[in-house]
Amino acid sequence: MYYVSQSSPFEGTHEALIIGMFEGNKPLQEPLAELDKRMNGHLSTLKKEKQLRTKLGTVTEIFSLGLLKSRALYAVGLGKKEELTEEKLRQSLAAAGKKIREHRITNGAVLLDSFVTEKILAEQVGFLVAEAIALSLYQLADYKEKTNEVEKELQSFTVYSKSTQLSDALKRGKVYGEGTNLARGLVNTPGNMLTPSDLADEARKLAVRHGFKVEVLERAEMEKLGMGALLAVASGSDQPPKMIVLTYEGAKEQKDVLGFVGKGLTFDSGGISIKPSQSMHEMKYDMGGAAAVLGAMEIIGTLKPEVNILAVIPSTENMINGSALKPGDVIRSLAGKTIEVRNTDAEGRLILADAVTYAKQLGATYLIDVATLTGAVMVALGDCTTGAVTNNEEWMEEVLEASAETGEWTWRLPSYEPYREMLKTSDIADLNNAPGRLAGSITAGLFVGEFAEDTPWVHLDIAGTAWQSKATNLGPIGGTGVMARTLARVAENYKRF
Ligand code: BES
Ligand code: MG
Ligand code: ZN
Repeated sequence: MYYVSQSSPFEGTHEALIIGMFEGNKPLQEPLAELDKRMNGHLSTLKKEKQLRTKLGTVTEIFSLGLLKSRALYAVGLGKKEELTEEKLRQSLAAAGKKIREHRITNGAVLLDSFVTEKILAEQVGFLVAEAIALSLYQLADYKEKTNEVEKELQSFTVYSKSTQLSDALKRGKVYGEGTNLARGLVNTPGNMLTPSDLADEARKLAVRHGFKVEVLERAEMEKLGMGALLAVASGSDQPPKMIVLTYEGAKEQKDVLGFVGKGLTFDSGGISIKPSQSMHEMKYDMGGAAAVLGAMEIIGTLKPEVNILAVIPSTENMINGSALKPGDVIRSLAGKTIEVRNTDAEGRLILADAVTYAKQLGATYLIDVATLTGAVMVALGDCTTGAVTNNEEWMEEVLEASAETGEWTWRLPSYEPYREMLKTSDIADLNNAPGRLAGSITAGLFVGEFAEDTPWVHLDIAGTAWQSKATNLGPIGGTGVMARTLARVAENYKRF
């Protein structure tokens, strides 16, 4: 769908040609100067008369009225040139992407060099263009008798630039967007249509597509291994639980294996400690961590970085049948530690406990778990920032750096000793799964950390960021696919540490 072209952008016939417009009174630079000339100076006139906006994130549609072969320009406001950042550029490009979707453009193009600055070079712009367009084209599937599926979609997108080395950046940006969209699709799927068995099937499809090894543990095998924590949560559901494992070996000679663990709770009713009914329907997104891991594997499978990855997804529902887990029950985890279940709604940390232990048993030497783990993280950080907890500074730095590169904001929470002590407040078991309201996101994270033990580990609580309740330029209401890109970037950056 994406083509790079060094030919004249003014000869191509497109429904929309996207251009970047910086603030200021300086005369237009190439390639806009040439464009202006072809339009008899209209572009600079419009800019002078403030009909053409340059405020960051605005898009002005200018019809070429026969002066160009293309039908219209989409001029993207970029603000002050020296203040443009990658994140601002991603957002602004998405504004143009949204117009492309809304106007059902099938044949678009971009004048890439009009976005380049001293700090953001053509290759980075290429990556961001491809990523932003892919993200903003994502559409929510619905199940209405008359569905919302558009008949017309972007078919071809031409990137005009002097640079000849752009195809790699475009490919990378596109797959980053599409991997995120895969995660969004899974998150948005209703719980009855995405059970643990369905999630396992999705993993199998990914494995076939990219040549990963895939293994799915069934209940009987979990019983044999002693995955008492995952089984305890699953005991209340009629849907069989799955422990899903994907293996990617991109560097056989290396001993390090990055373990990505994603919470795959396909529906969280809270169990006997039942949730209020008001927003319970949203709890289909409690598999956002699993979606992030699968989205990342889609990116990794396409780009094939030289690194070994183990993806582990514990998957079950948290339901309330006659054999459901009860408050006060004591369960034994795969690691041997016992847990007193004070609250059956604190189920995420239980299934992650066994998944983290299993990942270690299978050879993971660095761990990241991603989970919609606590409502408390939203109280602390809102819905735009992911909360992080770690047992290892350097590994945390790696993850934070990757998240800064992908624009997925992440903030570290403290993990001082008193927080860990709060987990040891059961008289009859090693751990208490719900030590109270104080510092809820930290204690939840550190509970998982108890099972990581000495293995470098980072926990990402995406309860706030996995779901957006307002549409943005980058995507509609619903699943965001957050952390698919950050996990993939950690894998791509691997060689650095
Ligand atoms: N899946 C929820 C966390 C959650 C809440 C995700 C809201 C997305 C939106 C998790 O399993 C949960 O219920 N956590 C409890 C923990 C408490 C019982 C210690 C919570 O946050 O209330
Ligand atoms: Mg819960
Ligand atoms: Zn949950």
